[in-house]
Amino acid sequence: MDRSRLSTLLERERDSYVRRNPRSAAAYAKAEHLFGRVPMTWMNKQAAGFPLYLESARGSHVVDLDGHDYVDLCLGDTGAMAGHSPTAVTEAVTRRLASLGGATAMMPTEDAEWVGAELTRRFGLPKWSFSLTATDANRWAIRLARAVTGRPKVLVNSFCYHGSVDESLIIVGEDGEGVSRPGNVGAPCDVTLTSRVAEFNDADGLARQLAHGDVAAVLMEPALTNIGIVLPEPGYLDAVRSLTRRHGTLLINDETHTFSAGPGGCTGAWGLAPDIVTIGKAMGGGVPVGAYGLSAALAAAILDRDDLDLVDMGGVGGTLAGNALSLAATRATLEHVLTDSAFAGMTALATRFTDAVTTVIEAHDLPWSINQLGARAEYRFARPAPRDGTSSARASDGELEDYLHLYLANRGVLLTPFHNMALMSPATTAADVDHHTEVFTTAVAELLA
Ligand SMILES: Cc1ncc(COP(=O)(O)O)c(C=O)c1O
Repeated sequence: MDRSRLSTLLERERDSYVRRNPRSAAAYAKAEHLFGRVPMTWMNKQAAGFPLYLESARGSHVVDLDGHDYVDLCLGDTGAMAGHSPTAVTEAVTRRLASLGGATAMMPTEDAEWVGAELTRRFGLPKWSFSLTATDANRWAIRLARAVTGRPKVLVNSFCYHGSVDESLIIVGEDGEGVSRPGNVGAPCDVTLTSRVAEFNDADGLARQLAHGDVAAVLMEPALTNIGIVLPEPGYLDAVRSLTRRHGTLLINDETHTFSAGPGGCTGAWGLAPDIVTIGKAMGGGVPVGAYGLSAALAAAILDRDDLDLVDMGGVGGTLAGNALSLAATRATLEHVLTDSAFAGMTALATRFTDAVTTVIEAHDLPWSINQLGARAEYRFARPAPRDGTSSARASDGELEDYLHLYLANRGVLLTPFHNMALMSPATTAADVDHHTEVFTTAVAELLA
């Protein structure tokens, strides 16, 4: 690829973005009282100096402060996989908040048991508990795993993301052992004291690490989704399960993003048998919620331990966790929006997206690839597709990503600002996908002209 052409085109797209979005630019310039000018510092991950501000959103589209309409393939990086403000969720939230009243009251509602039963149907785990974020679901699952195994460490895959979980900020270093992930903010201690790490798709590396006998739990996504999509090779997930069983280590499947694989995520779609499932984001239809599900044996072993304070200040819990509003929204999402039949349609659209991108990649013989995981697809600048986190990290190309993101945004399509992920909601249409195809095709053609 001609890098100087890429730089010139990127500058052109940046200029165009700045000219198109004066209101977003002004709102950002005025935001003197926000740390980094944004409500959360990651919102500074954008390609042209300031983020687009949200005006409104419905279904698969968002409208920004300057009035531009976008096909939203970012969908809140999965938090809005149900589509924006689906009717069933809006009605359930309105009923709870306005009609009945009581968003949070430190009292359970009957929605919780309905949601628990539905999550059991989908993921197989029989006992569920709720948080407000997937990060917290992971933190609490880790605590429970440590308590029940009496072991200090957690093992994750290199270049994983499980939220802001201290133990997960570790990557495989040059000598094959774990080192702190660069940029780790204020680590409480050397991460190798709390964690071990293995590459995804490397059962031998996992076996070597588990042989130390100090790993309470493997925390993993059944397919990596936060460093591009890295799919498991045949036999790898079976090897993970048998190795974890052999070494007395619990297996936590984090399905927060891999929920895209189907109504029960990869666990349901691929018949996996983890000891714990963690999840969050999409299941609340946009309202904050997270959850963890436990096997019967694990739930019983924890509840049998009267030395563990699960009721007061033992480190597992949050006052707003399990609140009435979150669970009303989650029930509505699972009952009426992210249904089994909705997943079939979302997956078909992601296949349409994947096929179209593949056609462009092949037409130009680009050294790129695209992976699909149910309703989610992502292109990556490597071919064949990377098989682990480290090689996928090496395939990043910030300038190229910025160009594609801006080219698409300037023509009405949003990808997730982190890498090149596109997600389908039940409200996404074939026309939405085809809009991306059209713009992506010209973005590539201009780059190679
Ligand atoms: C796999 C995975 N787990 C956990 C999280 C954290 O979710 P939250 O931001 O809701 O805490 C994320 C966020 O992207 C994720 O991708």
